[in-house]
Amino acid sequence: MAFTGKVALVTGGGSGMGQTTARILAQAGAKVALFDVNEAGMADTAAGLENVYPYVVDVSDTEAVHAAVDQVVAELGPIDRVANAAAIMPFGKLLEQDAKVQLKLMAINFGGLVNVATAVLPEMVKRGNGDFISFSSMSGIIPGLLMGGYCSSKSAVQTYTETLYHENRDSGVRFVCACPPPVATPLWKQAEDTIVPELTKAAPALAPEEVIADIEQCLEKGEFLSMPGKGTSIGYYMRRFFPNYLWNYAHKAEGF
Ligand SMILES: NC(=O)c1ccc[n+]([C@@H]2O[C@H](COP(=O)([O-])OP(=O)(O)OC[C@H]3O[C@@H](n4cnc5c(N)ncnc54)[C@H](O)[C@@H]3O)[C@@H](O)[C@H]2O)c1
Repeated sequence: MAFTGKVALVTGGGSGMGQTTARILAQAGAKVALFDVNEAGMADTAAGLENVYPYVVDVSDTEAVHAAVDQVVAELGPIDRVANAAAIMPFGKLLEQDAKVQLKLMAINFGGLVNVATAVLPEMVKRGNGDFISFSSMSGIIPGLLMGGYCSSKSAVQTYTETLYHENRDSGVRFVCACPPPVATPLWKQAEDTIVPELTKAAPALAPEEVIADIEQCLEKGEFLSMPGKGTSIGYYMRRFFPNYLWNYAHKAEGF
């Protein structure tokens, strides 16, 4: 992948898939802006790379995101690619999880996407080219016990990105929504600090590189949904045609 001279914006660029995405794009020659609240993580991403530019930005803060996007455009140039990877993932039974935590999940995971989309896409669409990538999850397709807050935020990410895609399908901007199963990243520490549903242990965790390669293939092929990993798309069809089977499976797995 050659990305020389292009400008990319990666939210959540201080860890996990955002970090891997940022490094791959920087090594391919892009100037990469990172938006994250994790300063140490962003410094780690930028280590040894002259073309990675960390910006401390809370993606749930509308004014801060819009101001930071203006700053990136002024400092690095028009944005050619966006990867929306910033997220949190505390789990819990809905009536036992603090309402404020559930709303924070929406504010960061979904609100962050809204803030970046409204800041970046109008110019990208006007220009008629660019790539816009959202990280939803298989959890956005298949809701599960003990993770309703996270699943709701990821369903919202998927619906919002799909609508963006269709509203701008003749614009020249390419849209991909990534729906991976579990991926081996630090995000799982948050689940481990709360609860890890049995269902999430059903498939082995993918490597971040596998997810990113699948997104790249989807961009090239013009496919909207990226579902990396062997058999992942089966989950998508099971949810569509046999939702009760999946819920029964979940009840059995979690034991209630
Ligand atoms: N890891 C998985 O199993 C998995 C599976 C499917 C989808 N996803 C999705 O992929 C994306 C990347 O996940 P990951 O596993 O690399 O996570 P990660 O925890 O490794 O990285 C997420 C980054 O987002 C940042 N972040 C959190 N809140 C923020 C805020 N308010 N403002 C700015 N940055 C903030 C964190 O500091 C962190 O650096 C997420 O959207 C996640 O929901 C992850």
